[in-house]
Amino acid sequence: MTTVRGLEGRRVVLTGATGGLGTAIARRLLDEGASVALTDVDGSALEHVAASLGGDTTVLALDVAREDDWQRVVSALQDRWGTVDVLVNNAGIGSTGTVETETRERWDQVLEVDQRGTWLGMQHVGPVIERGGGGSIVNVGSILGATGGLANSFSYAAAKGAVRSMTMNAALHWAQRGVRVNAVVPAFIGTTALLGRYAGTERHAAMLANTPMGRLGRPEEVAAAVAFLAGDDSGYTTGSEVFVDGGWSAR
Ligand SMILES: NC(=O)c1ccc[n+]([C@@H]2O[C@H](COP(=O)([O-])OP(=O)(O)OC[C@H]3O[C@@H](n4cnc5c(N)ncnc54)[C@H](O)[C@@H]3O)[C@@H](O)[C@H]2O)c1
Repeated sequence: MTTVRGLEGRRVVLTGATGGLGTAIARRLLDEGASVALTDVDGSALEHVAASLGGDTTVLALDVAREDDWQRVVSALQDRWGTVDVLVNNAGIGSTGTVETETRERWDQVLEVDQRGTWLGMQHVGPVIERGGGGSIVNVGSILGATGGLANSFSYAAAKGAVRSMTMNAALHWAQRGVRVNAVVPAFIGTTALLGRYAGTERHAAMLANTPMGRLGRPEEVAAAVAFLAGDDSGYTTGSEVFVDGGWSAR
């Protein structure tokens, strides 16, 4: 039984699909009856993830920062499906430096993927969604782009802050043309990668200490918000953000 209206049979492009949140988002959308194009810069893991998920998946390598990659993927999906109904801009990379210690190299890398990648996705897939009769774009932001966070991850905060403003700007652009654009804004989510990287460290302790609910989020909790924004239950919601943050934004 599906729990979100309007995802059955919808054709979804998901970026960063082999990561911790990407797999949880894919699983939820597939459970709701969607067809999901799993894309990732790490093309080698896609087949394995698709096999573990089951359901109606298509796998395509996609570096979100590359315009020619978006063109290739959009063209392949139009050949396969005719159109696209939903884009989930989930791919992202992090950073740890502060305003003082961040390097120019990392700044460029993070903005290329998290900021430019999100824009290119909207630019290339949005018009296809519109021509196909409308649908939804869901961008994955971060609480670090909406607050001062833990006073580090500087370039990541800059890029995710841009995801918020791009979401609102694009939402107004398409407001009367059938394409809704919203963001989910997670705080710290206990993915395998995040726990593997930080468990037992001071940063992990700071994540918990600064989260009002006192625990990390679960990938499924982010996936539920993505499903809501992707489907028809959120039909009157655009330019908006769903915070999945254990209370961070209420502080
Ligand atoms: N885990 C968290 O606590 C958390 C919190 C807030 C926001 N987010 C955001 O959620 C999204 C997913 O994060 P995650 O925790 O699953 O991280 P992750 O590292 O597990 O997954 C990220 C995925 O993006 C892919 N990727 C990286 N660069 C890419 C590129 N250039 N093109 C296409 N794919 C690329 C990676 O291969 C990986 O599969 C990111 O945008 C991240 O910023 C995560």
